[in-house]
Amino acid sequence: MKKLTYDELRNMYLDFFKSHGHKEIQNASLIPENDPTVLFTTAGMHPLVPYLLGEKHPAGTRLTDVQRCIRTGDIDEVGDTSHLTFFEMLGNWSLGDYFKKEAIQMSFEFLTKHLGIPVEQLAVTCFAGNEFIPKDEETASIWKECGLKDEQIFFTKEDNWWGPAGITGPCGPDSEMFINDLSKPACGPDCGPSCHCGKYMEIWNDVFMQYNKKADGTFEPLKQKNVDTGMGLERVLRVMNGLNDVYRTEVFSDVIAKLEKISSKTYTGNEKLFRKIADHVRAATFILGDVRGVKPSNTEQGYVLRRIIRSAIRALKQLDVNDNVLATLAEMFIEKHKKYYLELEQNKAVVLEALEKEETLFKRTLQSGLKEMEKVMARLGDNKVIDGQTAFHLYDTFGFPLEFTQEVASENGIKVDVDGFKKCFEEHQAKSRAGAEQKFKGGLADHSEQTTKYHTATHILQAVLRKYIDGNICQKGSNLTAERMRFDFSFGRKMTPEELALVEQKVNEIISADLPVKMEEMTLAEAQASGAMGLFTNKYDAEKVKVYTVGDNVSKEICGGPHVEHTGTMGHFRIVKEEASSAGVRRIKAVLE
Ligand code: ALA
Repeated sequence: MKKLTYDELRNMYLDFFKSHGHKEIQNASLIPENDPTVLFTTAGMHPLVPYLLGEKHPAGTRLTDVQRCIRTGDIDEVGDTSHLTFFEMLGNWSLGDYFKKEAIQMSFEFLTKHLGIPVEQLAVTCFAGNEFIPKDEETASIWKECGLKDEQIFFTKEDNWWGPAGITGPCGPDSEMFINDLSKPACGPDCGPSCHCGKYMEIWNDVFMQYNKKADGTFEPLKQKNVDTGMGLERVLRVMNGLNDVYRTEVFSDVIAKLEKISSKTYTGNEKLFRKIADHVRAATFILGDVRGVKPSNTEQGYVLRRIIRSAIRALKQLDVNDNVLATLAEMFIEKHKKYYLELEQNKAVVLEALEKEETLFKRTLQSGLKEMEKVMARLGDNKVIDGQTAFHLYDTFGFPLEFTQEVASENGIKVDVDGFKKCFEEHQAKSRAGAEQKFKGGLADHSEQTTKYHTATHILQAVLRKYIDGNICQKGSNLTAERMRFDFSFGRKMTPEELALVEQKVNEIISADLPVKMEEMTLAEAQASGAMGLFTNKYDAEKVKVYTVGDNVSKEICGGPHVEHTGTMGHFRIVKEEASSAGVRRIKAVLE
């Protein structure tokens, strides 16, 4: 195995798949559009859901990219040598093109020939089968043909099924690839990729997406058989450089060194705290600096952001760091990643300012909140549970997110009554009327006829707002279910009832005119030149995109679709509510009846 840099690994992966006929596509925002079931993009396949379900992708049937991802489920795992909240996923896809055999052969070729990983260091897992879907013998035999021995191939049920990313959508059996640390002895007779002793580290996953999970929990075969793969860039970098810790790779090493200097403490002996700080600051930098960036808040993505920033602030306190340092560390990550993520540089001031503000703000209450918590915990006696009311008090008075309280509590062997907290939270929300609608429950991300109508409605609404209210308005987000749409847009004040009535009327005029909705494929540069709206922050000008036009230029937007073919099918548009979403952003909730 030869040592590789971050750049080399990234390029090597993309070049390999390009040489096998894949087109490199632009990776998507960390904050998904039109999918209320998840807060963040969790995998490279996420922005590709419509294409996995059968829509035609303008770049063809073989795709590759590097997708930035956030996995909130891994936040609590951060502190070990491999877990990250934010990571980059190298991915390749077949949209109804090649399937198991070619996918595995390509994975094997890349791992052994290009990365030079010795075959004996590999271990793989395959789907063991369940009452609906049979054991995946085919995949195991392809691995054997590649040269893997029986003892390198394992079968599991739970760990070898991937997806859907939200509640519904494409999914299927998978085959995971692991590095077996041959210098470590097996931890017992059952030692294998599924145990967590640290001998095996997952690096890549080939998913054979051939099912669609429906809202009623059943599976139906997809129109096409797809392959979806994802490889953890930071983890492979760790392996390629003979390291036993992702935080020792070039992605983190300078930040870790800086932290040693700031804290006058060594990484060795304080690994958990250092890792938490480095991981959380990196994730926060990407969330704040995203093309659809959000600020710390008490709902949705902003809540997760606040939680990780506050957790990092506490870790810094545990290292006895008193100065504000988050912005300094974030700046290092921006420098490092701006080459591939131009938006980080563009949004640098916003990122640094938000971190500085949050650090100053939370430090005011952190100390007293922790004291309060100590008192509470001391009073608990044998009952090792903090009740919901108290957890809510910590949240409301000291700004302790629930998970933050849980983190501190669990370090003391204490649990928190989560249901009790939620009850208090919801009572409070109902009282204050500040709808945190999505925080504890999600809608459905489907591609039904009704959500398609709502999708087209967001385009028409944006065009009408720009034409009749303010030419600078642009979309900040949207959230669609089969029952309603929510559209967030930049606007500095409350809209008047007259303005809302006008917008409603104009949208309905466009619907009644039964205008055709046309889709054209063009390069990003052409789309930009044609006046289409969209996010133009990437560097792949030659990449093909879809542009949807309503009527004769009523609206023109870059978008993956799907959309209605004629506006006349949409029904009557009614605005239910207009309210503030965050500073400078308004939200319209509307229905089609
Ligand atoms: N979507 C698959 C994963 O995230 C590749 O593991």
